[in-house]
Amino acid sequence: MSFSSAPVSGRATALVVAPFLVLALLYACLRMPELPAAFFRSKELGANATEIVAPKDELEAALEGVSMDNRTLIITVLNKVYVEENAMLDLFLQSLREGEDTQFLIRHVLFVAVDERAFNRCRSLDLHCYKLVTDGVDFSKEVFYMSKGFNDMMWRRTLFLGDVLRRGYSFIFTDMDVMWLRNPFQKLHHEGEDLQMSCDFFYGNPLNNSNINTGFYFANPNNKTIALFDEWYASRNDSERLKDQDVLQRMMRGGGFERLGLRVRFLETRYFSGFCQMSKDFREVVTIHANCCVRMKVKIIDLRNVLESWKMNNWNRTANATWPPVKGICLHGPSPKH
Ligand SMILES: *[C@@H]1O[C@H](CO)[C@@H](O)[C@H](O)[C@H]1NC(C)=O
Ligand SMILES: *[C@@H]1O[C@H](CO)[C@@H](O)[C@H](O)[C@H]1NC(C)=O
Ligand SMILES: *[C@@H]1O[C@H](CO)[C@@H](O)[C@H](O)[C@H]1NC(C)=O
Ligand SMILES: *[C@@H]1O[C@H](CO)[C@@H](O)[C@H](O)[C@H]1NC(C)=O
Ligand SMILES: *[C@@H]1O[C@H](CO)[C@@H](O)[C@H](O)[C@H]1NC(C)=O
Ligand SMILES: *[C@@H]1O[C@H](CO)[C@@H](O)[C@H](O)[C@H]1NC(C)=O
Ligand SMILES: *[C@@H]1O[C@H](CO)[C@@H](O)[C@H](O)[C@H]1NC(C)=O
Repeated sequence: MSFSSAPVSGRATALVVAPFLVLALLYACLRMPELPAAFFRSKELGANATEIVAPKDELEAALEGVSMDNRTLIITVLNKVYVEENAMLDLFLQSLREGEDTQFLIRHVLFVAVDERAFNRCRSLDLHCYKLVTDGVDFSKEVFYMSKGFNDMMWRRTLFLGDVLRRGYSFIFTDMDVMWLRNPFQKLHHEGEDLQMSCDFFYGNPLNNSNINTGFYFANPNNKTIALFDEWYASRNDSERLKDQDVLQRMMRGGGFERLGLRVRFLETRYFSGFCQMSKDFREVVTIHANCCVRMKVKIIDLRNVLESWKMNNWNRTANATWPPVKGICLHGPSPKH
């Protein structure tokens, strides 16, 4: 079984026993001759009919186990490189543990592992893990920005996330190089938005912004977002090797959002910020993404500094943020280089 839920034994037992109890009850109480007969007959029909009696598939079980009551969850993707000791996964979890009102969110994160090592490490940490199997593709090497491997992984995740929407779940997708300092759900809007996207640079209009960043966004499941994800995935072009983010941005600039009738809100970098444009307020910042930065090692160094700096300054409620006093490698201090 690829999905492991966090606290094991009690719940696992309940999960195993419950279906039998239900069946026993059905059989004993209802005693309608048609019901058990129909049940067994459907089994005898062979391969096609097994769907009728088969248990929920793994993804459905995973989503159910992780999501909040309102079918909302957080999704992130991890590979072998992210799960090394003191690498991105540890830092990501540290931010969730040390952020304000974020610790409880860990049990609502689905960690989608794209290789065996990531999956095993994920399970050893008692997280909610799901193994995304892709035939013949090995995502386990460090995937450099814009390399073929990087691209394939991004596209596989687009396909996967469309599937989650089709199953009626809303989610925040987050890259793992995003520090969660506050509970983002409290800063998201609830005015019928279909999609709420973070940006590298925010220019002041939450309804129209020239750029997006697919490393952090919230999606609501409905026909319009499902259509968007279908179209997005269909627009990938293996020979052209565009990043999924670039393809979505191209769709957006070509009026694709309006054509699909999507209500999209662009998230202000005051709250949902990144190295491209850091939040200027320690008291307001919700997330910090290591965007505008390429190498994993560099991201980790700068993000770790940023997290420490936020923790210190958040305690004494410093309003005017000056990020790490030590100049970072990707991070350029209080006035970010564009
Ligand atoms: C079972 O499924 C196969 C392939 O999906 C299909 O060709 C076949 O007609 C199906 N049989 C029945 C009885 O539905
Ligand atoms: C789902 O519930 C959580 C916890 O109550 C809340 O913070 C979040 O805003 C809800 N999500 C949506 C999409 O309503
Ligand atoms: C967004 O702003 C750009 C530049 O100001 C403008 O050309 C475009 O028409 C606007 N799009 C929408 C949907 O308002
Ligand atoms: C969404 O699609 C389903 C299935 O095609 C359809 O039944 C439903 O009416 C659609 N809903 C909206 C709001 O268009
Ligand atoms: C895909 O990219 C190739 C190479 O750039 C181009 O020739 C082709 O027309 C593109 N196809 C689509 C459907 O965009
Ligand atoms: C808050 O703490 C930071 C780090 O200890 C310090 O640099 C800063 O001067 C403090 N600010 C205030 C207003 O006390
Ligand atoms: C913070 O910055 C604003 C404007 O940049 C300034 O007016 C204010 O005095 C600063 N506050 C502190 C405590 O330095």
